Amino acid sequence: MLIAPSILTADFTRLGAEVEAAFEAGIRWLHLDVMDGRFVPNISFGPLVVRALRPLAERFGAVLDAHLMMVEPERYLEEFVAAGCQYVTVHVEVSPHLHRTLQAIRALGARPGAALNPATPLSALEEILPELDLALVMSVNPGFGGQTFIPSCLDKVARLRRLLDARGLDRVALQVDGGVNPATIGSLRDAGATVAVVGSAFFTPQRSPAASVAALQAALSAPR
Ligand code: DX5
Ligand code: ZN
Repeated sequence: MLIAPSILTADFTRLGAEVEAAFEAGIRWLHLDVMDGRFVPNISFGPLVVRALRPLAERFGAVLDAHLMMVEPERYLEEFVAAGCQYVTVHVEVSPHLHRTLQAIRALGARPGAALNPATPLSALEEILPELDLALVMSVNPGFGGQTFIPSCLDKVARLRRLLDARGLDRVALQVDGGVNPATIGSLRDAGATVAVVGSAFFTPQRSPAASVAALQAALSAPR
């Protein structure tokens, strides 16, 4: 299972150093939470920050993955791809023409993803699965780091796993985001998730990125 730290809880006064420490510790996927103050109550950052991290990510061969928690994401796809994102994920709740939006991401040369809020049924993705490179199951209501994992999302991950396997779509990354930490990551892996977004349990004043990687890896290698 890949660990994709979210920079949302990093120390932004020393963001480069924080991210570099994560890469030094073996991380090769960085999750960028873009919030617009409309789709979600919070405002985070935009393409400027992605662009600033790009040289560092390129130096380590790391993936930059933008999770767009914004209305009308199609207005900004080009900017995020130009800023260096390999994956761009939009929310189905704000994408009435999801097929077109995903194709637009692919046409720009990036990999398209679609995200589901906890209350959005899995069926919202069913018709579009073959167009996806990433499916994101939110396990908290998006907007803030540090929230508690919603346990019912585990079953959603398992059902999505079965759906992808049944259709021969195991190339699609199954990402889970929200409340992932050493206590919850193992059950997500068991349910079939392949990419774990970790925010407050990764970039925390409590421990270094290297110690966070070690804690998550230990949880993943513990006997089931
Ligand atoms: C939720 C974001 C997440 C979040 C993860 O709005 O999409 O990526 O910041 O943070 P934790 O791991 O603290 O729930
Ligand atoms: Zn996210």
